[in-house]
Amino acid sequence: MIILGIETSCDETAAAIVAADGDEAPGRVLSNVVLSQLDDHRPYGGVVPEIAARAHLQHLDRLIRQALDDAGMGLDGIDGIAATAGPGLIGGVMVGVMTAKAIAAVRNLPFAAVNHLEGHALTARLTNGVAFPFLLLLVSGGHCQLLAVEGVGRYRRLGTTIDDAVGEAFDKAAKLMGLGYPGGPLMEQAAGRATDPSRFPLPVPMKGRPDCDFSFSGLKTAVRRHVELLGDGASAADMEDLAASFHIAVGDSLIDRCDRAMKLFREQWPEGRTLVVAGGVAANQILRARLTKLCAKRKFDFVAPPLKLCTDNAAMIAWAGLERLRLGLVDGLDFAPRPRWPLDPAAAKAGAKA
Ligand code: KG4
Ligand code: ZN
Repeated sequence: MIILGIETSCDETAAAIVAADGDEAPGRVLSNVVLSQLDDHRPYGGVVPEIAARAHLQHLDRLIRQALDDAGMGLDGIDGIAATAGPGLIGGVMVGVMTAKAIAAVRNLPFAAVNHLEGHALTARLTNGVAFPFLLLLVSGGHCQLLAVEGVGRYRRLGTTIDDAVGEAFDKAAKLMGLGYPGGPLMEQAAGRATDPSRFPLPVPMKGRPDCDFSFSGLKTAVRRHVELLGDGASAADMEDLAASFHIAVGDSLIDRCDRAMKLFREQWPEGRTLVVAGGVAANQILRARLTKLCAKRKFDFVAPPLKLCTDNAAMIAWAGLERLRLGLVDGLDFAPRPRWPLDPAAAKAGAKA
């Protein structure tokens, strides 16, 4: 089975072609084209929805052609089309979904409306063929969740953030510290140059709580206070130490919350033995190293996709579409894009945003 995937839910326009040879084997990425709109949004210090939607519209056709070229095939080589249908910035999502539907209609191909979060969640099956059930730490710019993944379309949320997502905390802290945009990679680079990583005492949000929830807005406020105390005389070295201290606090919180979730997961899904980390923040090597250690201690396998499959891409959307289509989960061409779309239906009923 060979699937074309399209991703347009935020500030990356992406197209990819992915193949599967057997039901439980990892997939093969035949092509994976990503156009980042970073430079378009940088002057505003964040993603501007209208600019993003227009840029997707301008570039998507060309990127799909390039993905086909890179894979050495035409549309006649494709067995189905998948596009991110939510959650995300709705203007961009509509561009991807309408394009996918048009190709599906003209070529008479099955269409899969993919939840962006399911794309992140199933990436570890594309790369490593990880078996269900597994525990997922999903950490991106818009989300911070711990989920038990029981199967395709079957998610149980164990915890979520009560305020900011962890990627958002990286981006906001970086902005406060004058490091620039996007914050995650710049904070990581700054932390790597630090000489005194534990110099700034920062709070470790939610540590020791019996649930698996996260919170990062207090940490951001603490960073703001240190930046104000440092004042105009702050040096690059000060910011490097602060970035490192920030990593320690975020890491302590993630480790404490994951440890809690691992215990719950072991109780309810005793056959599961893997922790998967996904989403843009999973690109962070400092946090990955700490999660690797925790997994060794708790006897979990640790799976983290390669960096370019952690941040937004269309290979993960093609793969999630492939997993759905091979189970016969075809979506109608009347599927309406969803700005909000939680993975766990129980969480959705409780009023979760995504
Ligand atoms: O998954 P993603 O590409 O887009 C969303 O769906 O949100 O995640 C983007 C987020 C941004 O907040 C970015 O700052 C963060 O992931 N990020 C990182 C790193 N690379 C990207 N955060 C920490 N360390 C990194 N190396
Ligand atoms: Zn994402």
